[in-house]
Amino acid sequence: IYGSARKNSKGVNLNINSEYQPLVDRMGEFMEREYHARPLLGFEIEEDAAQRQTVTSPYDRRQPVGSVQWATKAQAERAVDVAWQAFPAWSETPVETRATILERLADLMETHLAELMTLCSREGGKLLTDGVDEIREAVDFCRYYAARARELFAEPTQLPGPTGESNELMMNGKGVFAAISPWNFPVAIFTGQLVAAAVAGNTVLAKPAEQTSLVAHRVIELLHEAGMPREVVQLLPGDGPTVGSVLSSDPRITGVVFTGSTDTAQIINRSLAARDNAALPTLIAETGGLNAMIVDSTALPEQVVADVVHSAFQSAGQRCSALRVLYLQEDIAERVIDILRGAMAELRIGDPRDLGTDVGPVIDEEARQGLLAHVEKMKAEDRLLAASELDPAQTEHGTFVAPMAFAIDGIDTLDEEQFGPLLHIARYRSDQLDAVIDTINARGYGLTFGVHSRNESFTRHVASRIRVGNVYVNRDIIGAVVGVQPFGGQGFSGTGPKAGGPHYLLRFATEKTRTINT
Ligand code: NAD
Ligand code: ALA
Repeated sequence: IYGSARKNSKGVNLNINSEYQPLVDRMGEFMEREYHARPLLGFEIEEDAAQRQTVTSPYDRRQPVGSVQWATKAQAERAVDVAWQAFPAWSETPVETRATILERLADLMETHLAELMTLCSREGGKLLTDGVDEIREAVDFCRYYAARARELFAEPTQLPGPTGESNELMMNGKGVFAAISPWNFPVAIFTGQLVAAAVAGNTVLAKPAEQTSLVAHRVIELLHEAGMPREVVQLLPGDGPTVGSVLSSDPRITGVVFTGSTDTAQIINRSLAARDNAALPTLIAETGGLNAMIVDSTALPEQVVADVVHSAFQSAGQRCSALRVLYLQEDIAERVIDILRGAMAELRIGDPRDLGTDVGPVIDEEARQGLLAHVEKMKAEDRLLAASELDPAQTEHGTFVAPMAFAIDGIDTLDEEQFGPLLHIARYRSDQLDAVIDTINARGYGLTFGVHSRNESFTRHVASRIRVGNVYVNRDIIGAVVGVQPFGGQGFSGTGPKAGGPHYLLRFATEKTRTINT
């Protein structure tokens, strides 16, 4: 049931290609539809024109997608009341009921795949193929966590004890969870967080990213249709600091599951820690990365380039897992860079709804300006190695950034994660290998990492010395599959546990033992 939409590690496309065309044929009816979203809460709210924001497409800002009414601080506070009151009954609801709702949501998402992928494209600028991956990943999360919840929560675990004593371990929800998600996986991460919290027996306040509230709203409508009570999972679209600060400062919030930037995770961490009279909270944070790949001189240059292009530029580089720093052993560097230049010249940048497009837009003008400032700095230092071309006719009304590659000395040249299609390339000598790995480790991020080599002892050594969450050998470094490559990092990249892994639900639950003197 897992990961049905991706390439496997041999680069073989696991999709049936002809699958896309029927989906594309069904997209037409959703292409022009206007969507209007609002907070979906356990109580009625008024229409509030002052809170309504217009939504347009990243590939063409002249094209309206709809509008969203953001939640106010007062609504967020009242939603916490509702979630707090709903918790005891929900935590007593049999796990079978909770898991079945997740499976119904998975079925509904599959039924509405064409609509959801169209909305991911129109609102979030996603390629259609990325949109399919995204919905499939959300479906996988629902089915995987439903199955895990039955294993973990349905029956108490019997523990050993002396004669005349019975010991059991039971798992229960913790309380009220805030689920705060980013725009770059507006369905998969948004859904994965909240279904994990809910199936473990918690009530949930879901705060989607400002940029992708419409598709989040559609998912919650489907979740309610699947049978989730409205007071158990509530939707709070809105401004991060306004809504998010309620969710991280109210003493009744038991846990926060957050995916986004490292800076925001640190703000939330401080806010949770500053609460008076609050129980010690759970913070699950999955954050950014400065992901590297090391290539030695035995690697196959053509395969390296295919995997580098995919890792650095798929989804316009807007994946936390994306490749940011490529280390090439000197003997192979010129050859790889030469082929990479050719490959980058072939990339088609444009409308993400066109199946022939390789790279779509970045999410918004603020993101584009930030990336272009980095490009200017790199160019001023004469570091540009390769660039793809933007066709003005295809890109003039959207927020596009051309994929580029820059020469750097090493990962320390970079101040921070550049969340877009910008790759950095450093060269190393073979006697510098361990120093390179130690520098990457010392930089403090630890999300994804790649190594390319035909020397097995080399790949073993590198994979063992590097400190990250996900290591990939002789393949690309994106597209972790639920239940297959549990995903998440360490250090500045996150707290764990890994999403889509066997231990994820445990962090959302309390453990209680019962000892009976029989
Ligand atoms: P972001 O940190 O700006 O926003 C993430 C969420 O936090 C949004 O919903 C936002 O509204 C909310 N937020 C903002 N300020 C807040 C505050 N003060 N209190 C509470 N919530 C607040 O991140 P983004 O730009 O949406 O996403 C891109 C980042 O996410 C990148 O750094 C990327 O690496 C990271 N990311 C990590 C993973 C992972 O699994 N490790 C996955 C996807 C994205
Ligand atoms: N889980 C996503 C990936 O692996 C971020 O690309």
